[in-house]
Amino acid sequence: QQRYTGLIERYRDRLPVSADTRLISLCEGNTPLIRLENIPRLIGKDVDIYVKFEGLNPTGSFKDRGMTMAVTKAVEEGSQAIICASTGNTSASAAAYAVRAGIKAFVLIPEGKIALGKLAQTLMYGAQIIQINGNFDAGMNIVKQIADHAPVAIVNSINPFRLQGQKTAAFEIIDELGGAPDYHCLPVGNAGNISAYWMGYTEYAQDLPGLPAVADKRPIMCGYQAAGAAPFVAGKMIDHPETVATAIRIGHPQSWDLAWNAQKESGGWFDSQTDQQILAAQKMLSQYEGVFCEPASAASLAGALQDIGSGKIPEGSRIVCTLTGNGIKDPDIAISQCKDAHPVTIEANLDAVKKAILDSM
Ligand code: F0G
Repeated sequence: QQRYTGLIERYRDRLPVSADTRLISLCEGNTPLIRLENIPRLIGKDVDIYVKFEGLNPTGSFKDRGMTMAVTKAVEEGSQAIICASTGNTSASAAAYAVRAGIKAFVLIPEGKIALGKLAQTLMYGAQIIQINGNFDAGMNIVKQIADHAPVAIVNSINPFRLQGQKTAAFEIIDELGGAPDYHCLPVGNAGNISAYWMGYTEYAQDLPGLPAVADKRPIMCGYQAAGAAPFVAGKMIDHPETVATAIRIGHPQSWDLAWNAQKESGGWFDSQTDQQILAAQKMLSQYEGVFCEPASAASLAGALQDIGSGKIPEGSRIVCTLTGNGIKDPDIAISQCKDAHPVTIEANLDAVKKAILDSM
């Protein structure tokens, strides 16, 4: 058995690399697919829900899947620097993989609108942070033009190698479950990830044994957005997106056509969740399953629970929700979610600890 060295190596024959390509990797991918045990019981529904916990990637989000490919290809093509616009996770990931490759990373982030942990990571990896007085969409707009003006490779998901890397999450799910789930639920922001999963499911379906039609071996794709940042639900771009889930505070998604294609081909849908519903799902996952994801990630479970509740996702279904990022990235939200928790402060002796335990049992 060979040591696991990352998703490019694992799925090499399905990715655009050659035997000579220098792989820029931090052993990303191979994330746990955790079956929920308590929540299905709690909601009283006979459903099989799994969460693909992408928060356990090296920089704590699914972005590492795309970044290993994008940076590998940027280096192969001779780039000395990469750039991205980001709501935080892409910047952390780009920064880490740039270090690994020995090149420079520039990241454009909306000032004051990224979670603290993501800022800390990006600073630690030593990327050049450019804060803009504007939102993600404004940053994206600038980044799209910059390649004509400066020698930098764009590593946002408009870079097709990003989606190539990210499609491997679908491969892992099929390899583990022995087939595709019935429903796949994802948070949608810039819409690269839902497009990548659909690409992965579609590619793998061609090789799956059994059913003759490819369509029967792919899941129904469900994309969930925050209510204040839901262009796919509105059916048009949104100029002033707002949500507590800053990762998906996006009004002009770049993978617009690809994501609509995933929805149509799979027979799926887009829907939105209020910030309160998203936060409730985040807390529920932590407190009933021991899985701590960031707010944006919980939009997938929030949406799934709503659609299971209404019967749109029927009982007997096998469902996968992608949890895109780690909860510790956003400590401010986590702490504000637990205002009712009561840490006690006592003297540092055995009796006091004993009393504290017995008092709260
Ligand atoms: N969840 C998290 C935690 C994210 O960071 C993002 C996107 C998404 C979901 C949405 O994925 O854009 O592929 O639809 N974050 C990007 C960033 C925009 O800059 O980190 P998507």
